[in-house]
Amino acid sequence: MDQTLFFILLLVALCSVSECVQRQYHFIYENKTWTEAQRYCREKYSDLATVDNMNDMNELNKSLNDKSVRFVWIGLQKTGSDDWQWSSGEPALYLNWATGQPENTDCAMMLNGEWHDLPCSDNQHFICNNNELIVVKENLTWSEALRYCRQNHVDLVSVHSEEIQRRVMNVVKRASTAAVWLGLHNYCIMNMWLWVSGEMVCYHNWAPGNGTTPENCSLENRKGAVQSGGDQRWISLPESHKLNFICSGY
Ligand SMILES: *[C@@H]1O[C@H](CO)[C@@H](O)[C@H](O)[C@H]1NC(C)=O
Ligand SMILES: *[C@@H]1O[C@H](CO)[C@@H](O)[C@H](O)[C@H]1NC(C)=O
Ligand SMILES: *[C@@H]1O[C@H](CO)[C@@H](O)[C@H](O)[C@H]1NC(C)=O
Ligand SMILES: *[C@@H]1O[C@H](CO)[C@@H](O)[C@H](O)[C@H]1NC(C)=O
Ligand SMILES: *[C@@H]1O[C@H](CO)[C@@H](O)[C@H](O)[C@H]1NC(C)=O
Repeated sequence: MDQTLFFILLLVALCSVSECVQRQYHFIYENKTWTEAQRYCREKYSDLATVDNMNDMNELNKSLNDKSVRFVWIGLQKTGSDDWQWSSGEPALYLNWATGQPENTDCAMMLNGEWHDLPCSDNQHFICNNNELIVVKENLTWSEALRYCRQNHVDLVSVHSEEIQRRVMNVVKRASTAAVWLGLHNYCIMNMWLWVSGEMVCYHNWAPGNGTTPENCSLENRKGAVQSGGDQRWISLPESHKLNFICSGY
């Protein structure tokens, strides 16, 4: 098969895998203002709830296991006269306002599966995104690590933003190897790095000399790892190296 065609098919396959990944949520049974709730989620999870589609909505509904709780903050906040944005920084493309909403306040909560705006200073229960990062302290090759994450969690971690890099830097200190596998692989023929989630490498944090020059893959393919100490930057390694690794929970 033509190599470029093969590569495109592979990319399509990888992208559809990432679409199967379902976002997960964690309901917090405490009353906090929107900003306090945001801080809490960022410290303990990753952020206040982000909702991108109907699947997310169903999952969000499921996380509300206590049916007596009716109002919950989600991570949606007004940033301009008519602009709403997710706390995670993502643009709000999917919106599910109740009829007549939003009115004239700056933060959003969910009631009966629909969204209403409320003053941010109200105290409400809330829902966090539950995409945790798990450092697995076993020494595996990249392919074994990928399989392990997909069987036991969601995937090898894709570090597609500075926020995730910061969280990786926090957890990677627990590792027992000098470098730790990320979900980053090199397509030698195309001289290109991609995340296992199918995303392009837009944000990057390579150590000098790594990731930017063509790799020599005559013996082995190369994969990306993050240093567990020092600058905690990304390095390129042969895939047979046995390292600890980081799985994502979403
Ligand atoms: C949260 O606030 C509601 C309404 O003000 C109150 O009924 C409930 O007991 C509070 N729950 C907690 C866990 O503080
Ligand atoms: C979420 O639950 C509410 C009732 O609790 C329901 O009205 C709504 O349709 C549900 N939404 C989804 C997407 O399941
Ligand atoms: C993994 O490798 C590191 C560094 O070589 C070593 O210190 C650690 O004990 C190994 N862990 C396991 C579970 O074999
Ligand atoms: C990649 O980075 C590591 C760590 O800084 C360095 O030792 C290595 O030489 C770099 N690789 C290349 C090809 O420059
Ligand atoms: C790539 O590595 C192989 C094996 O180490 C070596 O024989 C070959 O010359 C290298 N090719 C390039 C372009 O550096």
